[in-house]
Amino acid sequence: EPVPRLEERCCEEPLMTTSSDADTLIARYDEVRSHTETLAAPLSPEDQTVQSMPDVSPTKWHRAHVTWFFETFLLAEAEPSFAPFQDTYWFLFNSYYEAVGPRYSRSERGHITRPGAHDVGLYRGNVDARVRDLVTTMDGGMLDKLSATIELGFHHEQQHQELLLMDIKHVLSVNPLQPVYAGSPLPRSEPDTAGWVDVEGGLVEVGHPGGGFGFDNELPRHRQWLEPYRIADRLVTNGEWMHFMADRGYARPELWLSDGWAAVQAQGWSSPFYWTELDGVWHEHTLHGTQPVDPGLPVTHVSHYEADAYATWAGRRLPTEAEWEHAVVADGQGDASVAGGNLADLQTFHARPAGPATGHLRQVYGDCWEWTSSSYLPYPGFHPAAGAIGEYNGKFMSNQMVLRGGCALTPPGHARLTYRNFFPPGARWAMSGVRLADGGV
Ligand code: AVJ
Ligand code: FE
Repeated sequence: EPVPRLEERCCEEPLMTTSSDADTLIARYDEVRSHTETLAAPLSPEDQTVQSMPDVSPTKWHRAHVTWFFETFLLAEAEPSFAPFQDTYWFLFNSYYEAVGPRYSRSERGHITRPGAHDVGLYRGNVDARVRDLVTTMDGGMLDKLSATIELGFHHEQQHQELLLMDIKHVLSVNPLQPVYAGSPLPRSEPDTAGWVDVEGGLVEVGHPGGGFGFDNELPRHRQWLEPYRIADRLVTNGEWMHFMADRGYARPELWLSDGWAAVQAQGWSSPFYWTELDGVWHEHTLHGTQPVDPGLPVTHVSHYEADAYATWAGRRLPTEAEWEHAVVADGQGDASVAGGNLADLQTFHARPAGPATGHLRQVYGDCWEWTSSSYLPYPGFHPAAGAIGEYNGKFMSNQMVLRGGCALTPPGHARLTYRNFFPPGARWAMSGVRLADGGV
């Protein structure tokens, strides 16, 4: 039986511009904050408490942590007589900011039955009231100073809206009753063929161009040399992935990076993360239930190692992040708010088929985060911000790979051309997929 759509309250808005107008900020604040609660609304307090593996955080932890972010980086900075809502929350909901103080261990977040989901709601309400009060009574100079932090808080909360869905997907996946989060599956798709888009390359510019929000890791914009290359016009499909499996892709060490092969053996990988074979038929766990694998949909929940092995098997390679970004600009899709895509507002919460070829890149924004062959490293001249907030992105620039484009769980207005997502190469619970490249480098 199809589950009704989540109540729609938010997120038609594209990227917000830096605005220090108090009313605009509060309206946006309310919109972003209430959308988190909309996403959590179908989940019971029990659903919201479970941590099904160390990388996954409980829903109520996400709801509390994004609140802690505003409390720490806005209220504590600007409230005249600041005190934490609860000292213990300060400790529990700090994710990784060393400069803010000690914190509870990440892998044990599922042990915290108190505060419960209801108490987290009270925490949210308290901080919301204080933020509204602060922003509406602050003088213009102070507001100008803090508006960048508030805006960062919006984009931070949106990152966690995506993580909340990614994480609850795993929580529900370990339940043999196969519970559904929301929505109903799309009709089965028609297989299509991938095409190639030729890109001239040369001396190009990549990185955030300024104007509108970007994370610090998208800066500075800089030049990059690209040899001519071509890039697939759509993502690799489940059907193509089944050919890789049938050709013993998971059993042939010559296709794999050494670390990848070690992961295959240590973790027994033989299919994408959420696939299980039931009565000889491959099924896939999704947020709208367990479905037979649709060969026309993009493959998703594969690690960087699997993406790389697949590309090797196919006689291709993964694009670099600069190739990805430049190809999208050259194709006229640099503005994500114009290009559109299968983001979370469509409420499919899963990749969709590419649709008919158009001569342009398909599935650029949304569907699946696309693994690149680029390590997550600082752009030339990168400087993290001073203070605790400098820990946001910069300190993770080691042993992780960049992914581009957003996925079907990404809130609209959060995907953009220069966005650099990152995960360790063995990660599979993120909604990650594969676009191939060829030539160049
Ligand atoms: C970019 C998705 C790896 O999950 O830690 C959340 C996003 N940054 N809060 C993460 C993030 C700060 C980040 N990832
Ligand atoms: Fe965070």
